[in-house]
Amino acid sequence: MTALVKMTYSDVDLDAVAALGGLIAIFVGADGKLDSCARKVNTLSRKAVERLVASDAFAGLSEGSALRLAFPTGVTAAGVIVVKLERRPSVEAARLAGAALALEKGPLDMTVLAGNIGKLADVALGLALRDYDFNAHKTAEPKARGAVAFMSSKLDGFDPKSVSAIAEGVFFTRDLTNEPANVLTTSNFADRLAEMQALGLKVEVLEEAELEKLGMGALLCVGQGSESPSKVVVMQWNGGGDEAPFALVGKGVVFDTGGISIKPAAGMEDMTMDMGGAGVVSGVMKTLALRKAKANVVGVVGIVENMPSGNAVRPGDVVTSMKGDKIEVVNTDAEGRLVLSDVLWYTQERFRPVGMINLATLTGAIIIALGHENAGVFSNSDDLSGAFIKAASAEGEGAWRMPLSAAYDKMINCRIADMRNTGGGRDAGSITAAQFLARFVKPETPWAHLDIAGVASIKGGTKLAPAGATGWGVMALNRLISDRYEA
Ligand code: BES
Ligand code: MN
Ligand code: ZN
Repeated sequence: MTALVKMTYSDVDLDAVAALGGLIAIFVGADGKLDSCARKVNTLSRKAVERLVASDAFAGLSEGSALRLAFPTGVTAAGVIVVKLERRPSVEAARLAGAALALEKGPLDMTVLAGNIGKLADVALGLALRDYDFNAHKTAEPKARGAVAFMSSKLDGFDPKSVSAIAEGVFFTRDLTNEPANVLTTSNFADRLAEMQALGLKVEVLEEAELEKLGMGALLCVGQGSESPSKVVVMQWNGGGDEAPFALVGKGVVFDTGGISIKPAAGMEDMTMDMGGAGVVSGVMKTLALRKAKANVVGVVGIVENMPSGNAVRPGDVVTSMKGDKIEVVNTDAEGRLVLSDVLWYTQERFRPVGMINLATLTGAIIIALGHENAGVFSNSDDLSGAFIKAASAEGEGAWRMPLSAAYDKMINCRIADMRNTGGGRDAGSITAAQFLARFVKPETPWAHLDIAGVASIKGGTKLAPAGATGWGVMALNRLISDRYEA
């Protein structure tokens, strides 16, 4: 597990500034006015801060970006980081400022002279999130990571756990999603989830024999070509009363070769992230447990590996889902919807949830439609999808509503079975996938499907994540739950 950067918080002590080691960070707004922390550093450094703030370089900085004064005179510190940030910043600007600090920090300790800057929690969260580095498979000693000490006059009512609970959930998702498939096997994934029992979550691992008894023929056919056993893991957080839970459902394909409908070699290695939906569900459950959320939430993930073999499901095979509907598997690479159909049905039958959101790296087509900026949101409920999109926007996680309708649903009708698992061609590929899922959602269940194929892992990274897994959705879902399901 990638550890969070060490962060501590104390009141401002200006007398300590001259002798601080490592790096010092200060904040200055666009008007160039120095607060008492910046003034202190300015005086000690014989007005170096003033000169930097008067420069064209500072004028050209966008809010949340930083410049460095290297080895300024008058202080022991090796550098002063000057971050452009208003005293009452937006959440987005505060997180960007934190990310800028993470990038400047390197191996040195840093003292952040935050003074009375608002949104301290978001500065800290942005810093923690951008300080992530997945180095589990680098043999070299991991690079030293400096600790961060915040000095703030706004610590009344500030709870450091509100920051670390979110960052740890996001890191859990990123670690799972970055992990290669020979390490994160189906069993290893289930073991990592079972470990969360130590946090007060109830975790059950359903093995193949039980899945067969439940009739999960759609999920099981996906994993039948793999040496690794298919599993469903149920994680329950009961922090509310006795009301029905809210449900999160995730696609956990630890590797997607495509099966007999095998994918081309180029880029196939990226399919280690095909469990990203299950990764987000797991990260949210971790955050809820760490912050002891006052809500009932159940997370259910289908964990399988999609491999070709003599025992693999074939194109043209007909399988029977737990719901009872029969499905012609016309393309074994459209496997995520097969996994989800059974997990969605199971979740509704067992928990009768008040609402249900599933996440899946479901289609390449959603990347064609929305790129890496937005996940696709498909829903039978304007209320639930609207609330989710609002929460996502508040957290800076892109989410865009996509359509569902009977005309698209017709495209998955099938000559020999109740439905087929693709629309036949490439037209509306992410919508036909969503229509398939919709057939396994009861009319009374408010439901949203998030197609996260474009946002779960991004080669160029994001403002708050280095290249690779982003943890997209953990913050939005955590916020949705706290806004909607907690007293
Ligand atoms: N896991 C893939 C979707 C995917 C593609 C995720 C790119 C992340 C990045 C999914 O199982 C898949 O293979 N979908 C097919 C569906 C098609 C066969 C109908 C696709 O998108 O091509
Ligand atoms: Mn596939
Ligand atoms: Zn897949």
